[in-house]
Amino acid sequence: MSADTALVAAINRLRQDRNAVILAHYYQESEIQDIADFVGDSLELSRKAASTNADVIVFCGVHFMAETAKILCPEKTVVLPDLEAGCSLADDCPADEFARFRAEHPDHFVVSYINCTAAVKAQSDLICTSSNAVDLVNQLPADQPVLFAPDQNLGRWVQQQSGRELTLWPGRCIVHETFSEEAVLALKHEHPGAEVIAHPECQQNLLDLADFIGSTSKLLNYAEQSSCDSFIVLTEPGILHQMQQRVPEKTLLDVPGIDGCSCNACPYMRLNTLEKLKACLETLTPAIEMDESMRLKAMKPMQRMLEMSR
Ligand code: 13P
Ligand code: SF4
Repeated sequence: MSADTALVAAINRLRQDRNAVILAHYYQESEIQDIADFVGDSLELSRKAASTNADVIVFCGVHFMAETAKILCPEKTVVLPDLEAGCSLADDCPADEFARFRAEHPDHFVVSYINCTAAVKAQSDLICTSSNAVDLVNQLPADQPVLFAPDQNLGRWVQQQSGRELTLWPGRCIVHETFSEEAVLALKHEHPGAEVIAHPECQQNLLDLADFIGSTSKLLNYAEQSSCDSFIVLTEPGILHQMQQRVPEKTLLDVPGIDGCSCNACPYMRLNTLEKLKACLETLTPAIEMDESMRLKAMKPMQRMLEMSR
């Protein structure tokens, strides 16, 4: 038995013994996606966490995602293979600074992208993901001023799609901001028939080049449904694993970072490994813990999102 086969067998045994469910985001390493019970985007993963019967949720993603599962399922043990798996968007929006920003806009309804800490969720009226942000903002009364945090690129895109003015918090994703416009133009030149598909966390100059913009799940569906046979994919390359399985006959082109580097891989997502996944099933650590009063405050806008995006 090879080392990897033994590792996978051990994870499978532990998953049964612990009555655990393994949830993985599309940006995880392929071998983690392959062993997961469910792979999805942030909205689908939240829904899955909210509805599972398992005692333990192993969240193979980043900290805010595991925290979201804990907000929705306080009675369950939620573990994250590597506690250092953070997110630049969550880091860009410290709760105390956000509280000051909110105080400057007392009449605003606060919509926060799910990529934020529980402490920021607790200060929000509604949570959204990249998959439902436009739809949720469109459901708000037209005369209601809205503050949108923390991703300014997603916020700007929602603004364009909904036609309404949003007050934006200036956060950014270090991964989606590294894609090189020149590299996209060169790929378009080499593959004139290819469509550019992009995540809305990308900067405006890249979104301007896109034929389709959407969350990770929407990009996957688009690649399947489009009659085009090649795509230039502007999001974290972990998604290519599922995409290639869904469209084995199509060509998928990954875009390098500005310096030709491979910094288009999310350094936080990639901290999780199969070894750490096994270790966290063995020890049930590191587990996500949270102050109950904050959890209750953070749960309200999360539940509102789940109700409004049904
Ligand atoms: P999705 O909402 O598409 O899953 O994206 C989450 C994310 O972190 C993108 O960088
Ligand atoms: Fe956060 Fe960007 Fe990584 Fe997504 S890709 S988890 S937004 S740092």
